[in-house]
Amino acid sequence: MLVSQLLSTSVLLCTVSTVLAYPGMEMKLAKILSRQDDAAGEGIDEGDSDELLGDLITLQDGQLTRVGLDIKQLLTGGSTPESDDQYINVPALKSAQCKQDTCCVWKYIADDMAKLFRGPSGRCTKWARKAVRLGFHDAAGWSKGTASQGGGADGSLVLNPRELTLAENNGLQDIGQKMKEWYAKWHDKQGFQDITMADLIQMGANVATVVCPLGPRIKSYVGRKDSSVENPLLLPHPSDPADMLIELFENKTIRPHGLVALVGSHTTSQQFFVDTKRAGDPQDSTPGVWDVLFYGQTQGTAPTPKRVFKFDSDVALSKHEKTQQEWQEFAGPGGQKHWNEDYAREYIRLSLLGVNNINTLTECTKVLPPAIRTYKAPDQNNLNTWLNSNSQSALAKSLSDAINEGESILNTIITSLLGRLKSL
Ligand code: HEM
Ligand SMILES: *[C@@H]1O[C@H](CO)[C@@H](O)[C@H](O)[C@H]1NC(C)=O
Repeated sequence: MLVSQLLSTSVLLCTVSTVLAYPGMEMKLAKILSRQDDAAGEGIDEGDSDELLGDLITLQDGQLTRVGLDIKQLLTGGSTPESDDQYINVPALKSAQCKQDTCCVWKYIADDMAKLFRGPSGRCTKWARKAVRLGFHDAAGWSKGTASQGGGADGSLVLNPRELTLAENNGLQDIGQKMKEWYAKWHDKQGFQDITMADLIQMGANVATVVCPLGPRIKSYVGRKDSSVENPLLLPHPSDPADMLIELFENKTIRPHGLVALVGSHTTSQQFFVDTKRAGDPQDSTPGVWDVLFYGQTQGTAPTPKRVFKFDSDVALSKHEKTQQEWQEFAGPGGQKHWNEDYAREYIRLSLLGVNNINTLTECTKVLPPAIRTYKAPDQNNLNTWLNSNSQSALAKSLSDAINEGESILNTIITSLLGRLKSL
C-alpha cells in the first residue's frame, strides 16, 4: 500500500463530514417535545392490537391471577408494558431462598446473557440483535388459522432439528447454539428443571432489547412450555408487499400499528443475507442503538448516508396507507417514548403467541438490567465516515465487524492503521 493511500485513509477518517445531524440532537429535541398523551389505555384506535390470547380468551376475570389480569389489560391497551422494577437483595444461587423465588435463577441467567449482549462502546452486540430476532422467529410460527397445530413461543426454533436450518433463519444458527449452551448450563447442570427453551429465548430477547441503549425495559414472564414439533413457517420476507405483511401479522393478532412498532427493531440491525455483497451494512446510521432514526431514514425524511441499507419491506410499510401515519409518528417529535411503549406492548403480545397458560406465568421483569435512557457514541465521527463511504475495503470490513461486535471503532482504526504501517 502506498503512503499516500494510507494517508488519505487516515485523513478521511479524521476529517469528519457532518452531513448527518448527530442523532443525540434529535433525542434532546424529542425529550423537550415529549408527548403527554400516551398514558396507559388511552388512544387505542383501529390500528392497535387488542385481541386476547390463549387461556385469557376463555377465563373469567374472577379466575385471573394478578399476572393474568395485568397481561389481559396489556393486550387490550391498558396497564404499562415497561417497568423499572428492580431485584433487591438477590439470594445466592445455591441458597434455599433462591429456590423459593422463581425469578432468582433468572437473575443469574439474565446477567450471563447481558455480558454477551453489551459491547465496549456501550452499543449492543450482534448477539443482542440476533437474540431479538430469535425471539421473533420462535414466536412467529403461530397464526389464528393454524393454532390447532400448536406453534408459537415454544422453543421449537432451537429444539426442533430442522427449523434453524431453513434459509429464513440464516444468521440465527449461532445464537441458537448459545441458547442450547445456556439451556444445558441452567436446565441440566444446575438442576433448575423449570427453565424452558421457550422462556430462555423470550427472556433473551428482552434482556437484549434493554441492553441496547435507549431500548425499553419490557415486562418479562416465565412459565412457557416447550415443544420440539416443527412450527408452520409463517415468517415475512423482505420482498413481500406491504399488504401481504400486514395480513401475515394480522393473522398473528398483530394489527398494522403493532407491525410498525415491531419492525422498528431493525434500528439495531446490520444485514448479511439480503445482499451478501453489502454484508454488514446497517439499517440506519446507528446500528446497536435502539433509537427512532430508523423510521426517519427508512421513510426518507432524515438524511441517509450511502451505507444504510433499507429493506424493501420496511420502505413499503413506511408508505402504506395503514402504516404510514404511525411510522411518521415514531419518526417525529416524541417518537422515542411513544415507540418504546408501543414496542414493549406489542413484543409482550408476540412473546405470548401460542402460550395457553398465560394465567399461570410468573412476572420476572426485576431480573432485567436497567434501561439506558441517554447515549452518546464515543466514535460517532468515525462512524459517520464509515457510513458515508460504500467502500468494501479490508478496513471498511474490519470497521463493520467491530461495530457488529459492539466495539468502539476508534480502537479498530488505530489497530488497523498500525497493522498497515508494519506491512509497508
Ligand atoms: C416485515 C417484517 C420483517 C421482515 C421482512 C424482516 C426481515 C429481516 C431481514 C431480511 C433481516 C436481515 C437478516 C440478515 O440478512 O442478516 C432482519 C434482521 C432483523 N430483524 Fe427482521 N424482519 C421483519 C420483522 C421483524 C420483527 C417483527 C422483529 C422483532 C420484533 C425483527 C427483528 C430483527 C432483528 C433484531 C434483526 C437483526 C438481526 C441481526 O443483526 O443479526 N424483524 N429482518
Ligand atoms: C392469513 O390466514 C388465512 C386463514 O388461515 C390464510 O388463508 C391466509 O393465507 C393468511 N395470510 C397470510 C399472508 O399468511
